[in-house]
Amino acid sequence: MEICIYRAYEEMSRAAAQEVADVLNAKPNAVLGMATGSTPLGVYQQLVKMHTRGEIDFSHVTTFNLDEYVGLPITHAQSYHRFMHENFFRHINIPPQNIHIPSGTTTNYRAFCDWYEKRIEEAGGIDLQILGIGSDGHIAFNEPGSSLSSRTRLKTLAKQTIDDNARFFDKPQDVPIYAITMGVGTILEAKQILLLANGANKAQAVAEAVEGPVTSMITASALQMHPSVRAFFDEAAAAKLKMREYYDWIQFHKPGAPRV
Ligand code: PGA
Repeated sequence: MEICIYRAYEEMSRAAAQEVADVLNAKPNAVLGMATGSTPLGVYQQLVKMHTRGEIDFSHVTTFNLDEYVGLPITHAQSYHRFMHENFFRHINIPPQNIHIPSGTTTNYRAFCDWYEKRIEEAGGIDLQILGIGSDGHIAFNEPGSSLSSRTRLKTLAKQTIDDNARFFDKPQDVPIYAITMGVGTILEAKQILLLANGANKAQAVAEAVEGPVTSMITASALQMHPSVRAFFDEAAAAKLKMREYYDWIQFHKPGAPRV
């Protein structure tokens, strides 16, 4: 895993957007794995700006989102369908048929999950997967204890995740307790992964994911097994990393890498 630490969220988001742009420049019909939440918002804003300036084109891009709440209609303010549409898709030129987001309203979850996995495969697999991390160490909604070879499936959310997400809903009891999510095994098949984290509330999860043992209790730690992960953190999220000096040294001496 390559660790890059940035002074501020905006700087981290710009660097992450540049990673996406590099992938699209090399492969205009790339398949992107998208994440929701507050973490990747800055990346989407930067990508929209780049698109508006005519620097990147999404007309041949295909996307797969990581997850969706179960039970929220796609028009619900907190659905991930709505999040992606409002914050990203409506501002770029991606063909609607190239967008894939798990359904939170299907009546047959098992069949849907199988179809979703098959669609990813048919699209040629994910070239670049964007990931955030939960304060409980989850990636997508793979909560503690999720199998590290899990596939897309229906998942019960951890109490910690429900509490973390309560800020987006009017009442705590409105927060969905189920989600449909790509599995850890699904995520690990992406060719490249970009892990993002910002803010002090992620510092413990980041330290355990990067420097702790590989364990299903911190599903992000499974990324240690992936051959091509770049992890972008802001200072606050990186605060508990014990090997910080080492990561800075590596970055500083890497030809062409961003200087931290
Ligand atoms: P956040 O969520 O970006 O809103 O902090 C990240 C996650 O739970 O994966």
